[in-house]
Amino acid sequence: MAEAHTGTPEKDDEDRLTEAEIAVHWKEESFFHPTPKFIGQANLTDPAVVESFQEKHFPECFRAYADLLTWDKYWTTTLDTSNPPFWKWFVGGKLNVSYNCVDRNLAKYGNKAAIIWVSEAEDEPVVSITYQELYVRVNEMAAVLRDSCGLKTGDRVTIHMPMVPELPVTMLACARLGVIHSVVFGGFSGEACGARIVDSGSRVLITMDGYYRSGKLLDHKVNADIAVKKAESDGTKVEKVLVWKRFSGKYSSPTPMVEGRDHFVDDLLKHHRGALVPPVSMPAEAPLFLMYTSGSTGKPKGCQHSTGGYLAYVTATSKFIQDIHPTDIYWCMADIGWITGHSYIVYGPLALAATSVMYEGVPTYPDAGRVWRIAERLGVNIFHTSPTSIRMLRKLGPDEPKKYHYHFKCMTTVGEPIEPEAWLWYYNTVGRREAAITDTWWQTENGGFLCSTKPALDPMKPGSAGPPMLGIYPVIYDEHGKEIPPGAGKAGNICIRNPWPGILQTIWGDPDRFVKNYYAKYNKDKNSKDWRDWPYFAGDGAVWAGDGYIRILGRVDDVINVAGHRLGTKELESACLTVPEIAEAAVVPIVDAERGRVPEVYVSLKPGVKAGPEIAEKVTKAIETTIGKIARPKAVRIVPDMPKTRSGKIMRRVLAAISNEMDYGDITTLSNPEVVEQIRVQVQGAGPVKKKTAPEDIRRFGETT
Ligand code: WTA
Repeated sequence: MAEAHTGTPEKDDEDRLTEAEIAVHWKEESFFHPTPKFIGQANLTDPAVVESFQEKHFPECFRAYADLLTWDKYWTTTLDTSNPPFWKWFVGGKLNVSYNCVDRNLAKYGNKAAIIWVSEAEDEPVVSITYQELYVRVNEMAAVLRDSCGLKTGDRVTIHMPMVPELPVTMLACARLGVIHSVVFGGFSGEACGARIVDSGSRVLITMDGYYRSGKLLDHKVNADIAVKKAESDGTKVEKVLVWKRFSGKYSSPTPMVEGRDHFVDDLLKHHRGALVPPVSMPAEAPLFLMYTSGSTGKPKGCQHSTGGYLAYVTATSKFIQDIHPTDIYWCMADIGWITGHSYIVYGPLALAATSVMYEGVPTYPDAGRVWRIAERLGVNIFHTSPTSIRMLRKLGPDEPKKYHYHFKCMTTVGEPIEPEAWLWYYNTVGRREAAITDTWWQTENGGFLCSTKPALDPMKPGSAGPPMLGIYPVIYDEHGKEIPPGAGKAGNICIRNPWPGILQTIWGDPDRFVKNYYAKYNKDKNSKDWRDWPYFAGDGAVWAGDGYIRILGRVDDVINVAGHRLGTKELESACLTVPEIAEAAVVPIVDAERGRVPEVYVSLKPGVKAGPEIAEKVTKAIETTIGKIARPKAVRIVPDMPKTRSGKIMRRVLAAISNEMDYGDITTLSNPEVVEQIRVQVQGAGPVKKKTAPEDIRRFGETT
């Protein structure tokens, strides 16, 4: 591909990148292979299974997924497409999710740990909850919800809780009754929780008094008061607030309980000791939960996930991709407040009778060895985390994993593209070259993985999510809907051509927005009842290599247009990480009279490395050599830390605002808001905050993070 648009007009016509395309300069990495030992025990080793998911077998191929579940009533129609794009899976079938994740495991695994919970406080004992104990707790909590709160099938409940076992207990209790849960990430503010209460129309909020984070016992109950107030001011009355206690028998929050409205769950449970609540047999297409996600504009979208299709999809992908067996000790380090936690801490692993580990706190508390100590102590053999965590663990303790005796058979990454540098550390140092890695690409909207290698069948390629999942048929379009075939060396918008069981059913309360957001862009005929006319628009840029592997370049709006050349921020950041001193990098666009936009680079350094102009120079050089002079950054800024969300994503939006002297807006939801002002002063100098206006693309840059 041409390095820049310096060619003749004819050449330009031929090589011009359309709007959707992102320059691709990334060199293809070589393949790594799973070990024979891993392959010998893996769940998915039969290529015939792959064959059975070819397009000619769609949609019936997904029967194999649904057959992993226990149905009260078998379905009659595998896929109903009569009302596009509102697809219905396994129509006519009935089942209960809590039955599938708990009750059905009792006979064989009743005394096995379902959940092992680890407090952030290292001296607090680890808690193991067997399937039998989980069964008792879920039943009692279901009785609380049904009999003390009057909740029934179809009602919505907002849950704003930290990483404690009471969270999955509450979710499963809702699922037992067919009550739709909406879990709001514990780190979100009371205001954010309130807005989600209003959108979902919840009358009941379930929270906890406090939890540990970085060694401090935080007051969480206070957020419930803010949330209820916010909801009320927007017209939704919360009738009951249920408060779990972090320490049994002791209220750990300084915020008073509100008479008549607030109730301790412990007190209510006393009335329901030993209660058994029959699981409600739910239609496959009944909603199971809502999960809010931010869009590029407007209020968060309540992604509505189904009962049968969703559970079938997460169970099968947990089995085939994460290679979960009932004998495994599986640890996904995400928070249950995100979709990853729903699908791959709670529903998928428990439906497979696995032991799922939950950790309350910060992975590097009290030191960079914590994660590996937990793995060693519990005998974790499957590990699932994000590139952000991998970079952070590498930054703070590059050699820490070597000190501990754990043994991972496979590892997973999710959430953003992983730089090959970080991938190699994960593979060599964390996985000791024994663990198979799957890089799983998907979204809140998708329920489960869309692209990933099948760990025993496909070799790994650092930085590449891999081939599409079983039964997922992607297409990459340019801005005009022209297909960019695999091997074209060009990137575009990745879409999925077909429905799959894990796909969101709608946006809660806003079906028009659902259609507009995900289907309108490449819909071929809005009256068509044929699923082939309704590609799902994921909003990510991607490039499909000739070998069938897909590399995700990030959100389509996370691009920098330099002289008509769209550069993926991730690609630039990846180049920065080839400099050994660099721990993290974030690239943002700044307005440039000549080139339109130019990248500005923020980097943080590994511990012990001293900042200096030679490092900035190395970064510039790395970008120039891997991508080309066109990408030469205007400045390389060495900062103490990156502004990050509570889920660990770098807030490029905030950095872009600083670079362009704009108002950086609300930063209260960051995990480290104090660093923002430090960086601003470093970039702009002391003096008042500048509030210039900037063009639309700069204002919207990084908004979807
Ligand atoms: C990005 C998280 C590259 C992508 C499950 C997507 C990834 C967004 C990967 C969804 C990956 C997720 N490689 N990019 N393996 N996984 N993404 O909704 O841009 O929190 O659109 O879901 O994260 O984020 P969400």
